[in-house]
Amino acid sequence: FISLFFGSGQNSATERIVGGYAPVPHSIKYIVSIQTRDRQHMCGGFLINKYWIVTAAHCNIGLHKMLIVAGDYSLTIYEGTEQQILPQLLVPHPAYNRTTNNSDIMLIKLRAPINLGSFVSIALLPRQGTTIAEGRVCRVSGWGYTSPSGGQIPSTLRTVKLPIISTEKCNSSESFNGSITENMICAGYSIGGKDACKGDSGGPLVCDGRVYGVVSWGKGCAEAQFPGVYTAVSKFRKWIDNTILSYYSRCNNN
Ligand SMILES: *[C@@H]1O[C@H](CO)[C@@H](O)[C@H](O)[C@H]1NC(C)=O
Ligand SMILES: *[C@@H]1O[C@H](CO)[C@@H](O)[C@H](O)[C@H]1NC(C)=O
Ligand SMILES: *[C@@H]1O[C@H](CO)[C@@H](O)[C@H](O)[C@H]1NC(C)=O
Ligand SMILES: *[C@@H]1O[C@H](CO)[C@@H](O)[C@H](O)[C@H]1NC(C)=O
Repeated sequence: FISLFFGSGQNSATERIVGGYAPVPHSIKYIVSIQTRDRQHMCGGFLINKYWIVTAAHCNIGLHKMLIVAGDYSLTIYEGTEQQILPQLLVPHPAYNRTTNNSDIMLIKLRAPINLGSFVSIALLPRQGTTIAEGRVCRVSGWGYTSPSGGQIPSTLRTVKLPIISTEKCNSSESFNGSITENMICAGYSIGGKDACKGDSGGPLVCDGRVYGVVSWGKGCAEAQFPGVYTAVSKFRKWIDNTILSYYSRCNNN
């Protein structure tokens, strides 16, 4: 999903998320669309409080090119529920490695607070080090491709339920053969068919009401033996809390 940019010749997808369905409009309130300033959807993300968003580090197109849209469902129809806010600060994880895809997580501080309410809410995060068992069913949502080959608009939000695959299985020679680090978790079916895809990057994988994963990478989309790979949020909970805290203590000291 790392080469995820829509635009440049390719169309956005008909329906999004491979093998999923349309959720009730505005029922997934913590998700945001990260767009270019000319309103092209690029990545997903999610609100963790009214000033901060979590997304993938590989979604970093630069502060001055980015626009955040909360409260959205259809990307093409104005529904009156959208809130568009510019970012003030991007904090990609300092250990993010674009070769290994390790530590693929980024915090975005907004210039103005999002109004929380009927159409926008925050997502809860797991505690540092919390693990999620193999087979536990989670849900990933986004405005990404519904098939590896892409498609066309209309661009409403999609969601799909996927079980957690053990790291052992995901890292085995039958699958990602050693490329899975302890900062990643995998979710999907060994027969394929359901997955996140291009344009879903940065979006939330929610298990038991908390965001355990950030859509990060994969091999194609929904291929058999190759589940989706997600940044393990529970490995970065302390980094998230400390980054936000140090931002405010720095402001207060000046
Ligand atoms: C990324 O990881 C590779 C493989 O471990 C390593 O060789 C490289 O130096 C790392 N790059 C950065 C920027 O840390
Ligand atoms: C990183 O992710 C890309 C897909 O975006 C994948 O092709 C590549 O193999 C991944 N790198 C490693 C070392 O697994
Ligand atoms: C898996 O990785 C090992 C070690 O890097 C390599 O020798 C082997 O060919 C790989 N297997 C597959 C199926 O790609
Ligand atoms: C995945 O496999 C590689 C190669 O065997 C290993 O170095 C790495 O530690 C494994 N990842 C995890 C999370 O165990």
